[in-house]
Amino acid sequence: MNRFIHLLVLASLVLCQILSLLSLSSSTPLALKLDSSLYVDKKGDFLISPNNVFTAGFYSVGKNAYCFSIWFTKPLFNGDQTVVWMANRDTPVNGKRSKLSLSKTGNLVLQDADQDLPIWTTRTRDVTGSAELKLNNSGNLYLQSKNEQILWQSFGSPTDTLLTNQPLTTGTMLVSSRSRTNFSSGFYKFIFDNDNVLRLVYSGPKVTGVYWPNPELRAWDAGRSTYGFGRTATIDRFGRFIATDGLFFNTTDDGSQPIRRLTMDFDGNLRVYSLDESKQIWEVTWQAMAQTCKIHGSCGENSTCSNEPNFGRKCTCLPYHKMINRTDWSYGCEPEFESSLCGTGGDDDFLKLPHFDFYGYDSLYLPNTTLDVCKQECKNMCDCKGFQYKFDKEKAIFLCYPKFLLLNGFGSVSFIGTFYLRVPASTLSSHTNKSIQKVRETKLNCFGSPRMVQLERIYDKKKEIGSIKLLLLFTYVFGALEIICIIYFFYKTRSTKKFKGYLQAATGFERFTYSDLKRASQNFETEIGRGGGAVVYKGVLSDNRLVAIKRLQEANSNQGEAEFLAEVSTLGRLNHMNLIDILGYCAEGKHRILVYEYMENGSLAENLNSNELDWDKRFEVAIGTAKGLAYLHEECLEWVLHCDIKPHNILLDHDYLPKVADFGLSKFLDRDGRGNSEFRQARGTRGYMAPEWFFISVPITSKVDVYSYGVVMLEMITGRSPQGGDQSGGGYERPMVRWVREKAGVVGDGYGGKDNWIDEIVDSAVKGEYDKVRMGNLIKVALQCAEEHLDARPTMSQVVDMLLHGDDGRS
Ligand SMILES: *[C@@H]1O[C@H](CO)[C@@H](O)[C@H](O)[C@H]1NC(C)=O
Ligand SMILES: *[C@@H]1O[C@H](CO)[C@@H](O)[C@H](O)[C@H]1NC(C)=O
Ligand SMILES: *[C@@H]1O[C@H](CO)[C@@H](O)[C@H](O)[C@H]1NC(C)=O
Ligand SMILES: *[C@@H]1O[C@H](CO)[C@@H](O)[C@H](O)[C@H]1NC(C)=O
Ligand SMILES: *[C@@H]1O[C@H](CO)[C@@H](O)[C@H](O)[C@H]1NC(C)=O
Ligand SMILES: *[C@@H]1O[C@H](CO)[C@@H](O)[C@H](O)[C@H]1NC(C)=O
Ligand SMILES: *[C@@H]1O[C@H](CO)[C@@H](O)[C@H](O)[C@H]1NC(C)=O
Repeated sequence: MNRFIHLLVLASLVLCQILSLLSLSSSTPLALKLDSSLYVDKKGDFLISPNNVFTAGFYSVGKNAYCFSIWFTKPLFNGDQTVVWMANRDTPVNGKRSKLSLSKTGNLVLQDADQDLPIWTTRTRDVTGSAELKLNNSGNLYLQSKNEQILWQSFGSPTDTLLTNQPLTTGTMLVSSRSRTNFSSGFYKFIFDNDNVLRLVYSGPKVTGVYWPNPELRAWDAGRSTYGFGRTATIDRFGRFIATDGLFFNTTDDGSQPIRRLTMDFDGNLRVYSLDESKQIWEVTWQAMAQTCKIHGSCGENSTCSNEPNFGRKCTCLPYHKMINRTDWSYGCEPEFESSLCGTGGDDDFLKLPHFDFYGYDSLYLPNTTLDVCKQECKNMCDCKGFQYKFDKEKAIFLCYPKFLLLNGFGSVSFIGTFYLRVPASTLSSHTNKSIQKVRETKLNCFGSPRMVQLERIYDKKKEIGSIKLLLLFTYVFGALEIICIIYFFYKTRSTKKFKGYLQAATGFERFTYSDLKRASQNFETEIGRGGGAVVYKGVLSDNRLVAIKRLQEANSNQGEAEFLAEVSTLGRLNHMNLIDILGYCAEGKHRILVYEYMENGSLAENLNSNELDWDKRFEVAIGTAKGLAYLHEECLEWVLHCDIKPHNILLDHDYLPKVADFGLSKFLDRDGRGNSEFRQARGTRGYMAPEWFFISVPITSKVDVYSYGVVMLEMITGRSPQGGDQSGGGYERPMVRWVREKAGVVGDGYGGKDNWIDEIVDSAVKGEYDKVRMGNLIKVALQCAEEHLDARPTMSQVVDMLLHGDDGRS
């Protein structure tokens, strides 16, 4: 018996070898010749440009759904691929037996499995009998006949992207994709309009309109000419865009020659991206709209728009409203309450939304009005949905604008003014703590792979031909051999290892045994951190990966276990470049251990006094930490608070880029904020804790992390510890924060400090220059974060926005 198994194993190994040799020898072709095909299910069936920059082939856009596409061969740092062209974006084909064929006659045909009619074709005809499909170094896929004549080229039918030197002309346009992950045609177009002017147009399900250049301007006032000859627009390799309507611009990196693309993004903005090849990221080097909230069709009625840190805008329903169409923001939101606003109005109250504005649709303008009068005026009107109330500094009076339609909503901390939303008093009293930041829209692809979209394509299974049956038979036999082989090796080598539990299946982490980790850490020898009921050790896994091993203390094993499971399940679903990655865990007897990626440069706390961490790196730490926290708070399905932001929990990788660590204390808040009550037990570290921890009546929200973030940033800038100095003021306001506030001369919204207040605040022990404007901005943002009252603090994504775009969200 034993000998028989050996034989089988040997046979399957030989088969393995033969197969791998076979697959190696079929290298990627450089051209597709007449009467041949590229198959969706044949591995490595691609055309690659001679310089290896571009690849053409079948690209997976969903489960069993493929589009014939061109993309940049090299993936971005996060593994994402950048697609620049698609043949069949609106009708993906099956993942089996679909093919792109160049027929004998020179027609290029894309065929879905078993369907007779082609999905897409170039309708070309080659008379020379020697046409070839090639992908050139510019990313152009072209069909060329023997006499050098180009029969068809992908440059002539762009989808949403123009590559360097690719012209946009009459009859072509860029059409955005539907969303970040759905490549189907979206609502935004970049076209030559009827009057020869290049425009951005929104044509959505309900409304259509031009939004760029500013539709209120005549073409020539916007610097455009209507007398275009020939209608062409291109961007050259130096980053200069030139069009026949007089539009020209240089990218911010003009002159240099990186890889660029001009893309009509799904959010309605037209952007030029340049590839930073060292980091493998796309940098925006030009964009049409500085203020994405001004893009038409942005958010619809009863919703507001805010700038999203990483990419464009974010729509949010007003409190007590819900999205009308879950897939499309342009439908807007409808109230969840019974809106019988007419009548006495006695039953209505107002929800205060600071820093929100709705442009236009005023039914009245009432200068020099008190808040009570303004409220009464609104109640008296049947169609008043709420009002804008703001202070006019020049005249020193309050202005009141009742509104009959809530469109073009916009939220930005820099906006001084408050919107009062009219809501039935009964609704308002039944949900006390609701604030607008809690009503974020659920992101569809929060966790996991963005391309795991279900899109079933059916095809007739009955038509299987003989050769496939044979192939299947072979596969079965081979598969059986393989299974025997695996089982054999499993028992031979790992007979001691138990099967892994369901937790791994659920979370996808590696489960380690206690002895594995004991070995990896050399019996828990090198301690690299401590806190939160745990000690962290350095370790080396058997595959030589450096890891941080966090061992929860056995003493409080009851609490420790709950903490542990919370951390495992929280971490299992979070995935962001500014959050620490978890690699695995161990739950064996009393032992509760987590295994994290190792961070070469320790924590921010260890680096505060280091000159390695210069000001540029400190700005990166500020932005990265804010992005990580913004993701925790807002991007995902659940609301996750950290509750213990301090320099020890901000770790630095080899480039000194920050990752937020230690979610041991974090806990889910449900989206209504109902989870608050059990959350009262104070958490965190003295010195960084927000005031509301000390007041039972104030709810605990994501603003506690914002506060701690503000304190940490001020500590990083000033080099002063938040607890330094006396606490005799009796207040929870840290002396350090107060000191900065005094130096900056904060009065109301202004900064009246001495001319050199920034220099006085900034830690002089840190060597090197810093950008004054950036520093001033960072200090202001940090001070806003460390405001005593939680409503005065921005959200984390607003922080990112302010750090990236200066202090004003508007353009
Ligand atoms: C690729 O094709 C385009 C369009 O035919 C052409 O302008 C460009 O010069 C070609 N690029 C290379 C590197 O051959
Ligand atoms: C993309 O959006 C279109 C239009 O809404 C829809 O029909 C299609 O199913 C979506 N595709 C995927 C993969 O979600
Ligand atoms: C773009 O750069 C070119 C030279 O590289 C210069 O002549 C031109 O004035 C620049 N255009 C703008 C709008 O800055
Ligand atoms: C939502 O919008 C999509 C895309 O425009 C549309 O296909 C769908 O029918 C809409 N659903 C509802 C309920 O209106
Ligand atoms: C927006 O809300 C108002 C009530 O505040 C409601 O009358 C209106 O129908 C809503 N708009 C949409 C598109 O549902
Ligand atoms: C505003 O109203 C108050 C009281 O009605 C009045 O005393 C004041 O002069 C007004 N201010 C202006 C600028 O009209
Ligand atoms: C930070 O990491 C880099 C790269 O691993 C290393 O060369 C450097 O010595 C580290 N600095 C400190 C202070 O550990």
